[in-house]
Amino acid sequence: MSTPHINANTDDFSDTVVMPGDPLRAKYISEHYLTRAKLVTNVRNMLGYTGLYKGKKISVMSSGMGIPSCSIYATELIKFYGVKKIVRVGSCGAVSDKIKVRDLILAHSVSTDSKVNEIRLNGYQFSLSSDFELMNKLFIQAKNHKLDLKVGNVFTTDSFYSLDNDLINLLRKYNFLAVEMETAGLLGIAQEYDIQAAAIYTVSDHIISNEAMSSDERERSFDEMIRLTLDALI
Ligand code: HPA
Repeated sequence: MSTPHINANTDDFSDTVVMPGDPLRAKYISEHYLTRAKLVTNVRNMLGYTGLYKGKKISVMSSGMGIPSCSIYATELIKFYGVKKIVRVGSCGAVSDKIKVRDLILAHSVSTDSKVNEIRLNGYQFSLSSDFELMNKLFIQAKNHKLDLKVGNVFTTDSFYSLDNDLINLLRKYNFLAVEMETAGLLGIAQEYDIQAAAIYTVSDHIISNEAMSSDERERSFDEMIRLTLDALI
């Protein structure tokens, strides 16, 4: 079987998926953390892999950038491949003074400038939060790994280059931690199909101070996030 965007066989995916935005991150995770990993889909180079992590079958599927791309892959994984748990492992830009580049953030809840969930709910505000059980497991693993995981509200935006200064100031006023571009899509879909989803990020840049990570730092903090996520999922 294949779907419009995934050319895997029916049983190729685990019910548990780790979802980075970047296809090369999916490749990296499969090569560095999974055993007996195989590439299961490569349509448009949106790579997906399945292998074993400490003996448990886990898949890694890239989402691409933005709500529409992420939503396509999440929906097809759930509807056609029986996926029940998705953890987005992404990057984000900090807006809060309490957050530094390299910090790890768990999205407790997300707000968004996208209309996608309001449309779902006939114009009413849709409250989006990570799945409680997944959040709990991620939080416990962060403690086990001695990592200071910050938990809070994150803003999903449709706009990378034209984010309005007034909006950034509002996000700061209301103590949002960071902005990113996919989670409101993923959590709306999880709610629609009654599956578990959560999102965790490394802070790649700070929107106020303009600080950004070196490529070395990117790799190190990405590894910390992946290890804790995989340990939370087994
Ligand atoms: N804006 C939106 N998404 C992001 C950013 C940003 O600054 N950094 C990482 N993901």
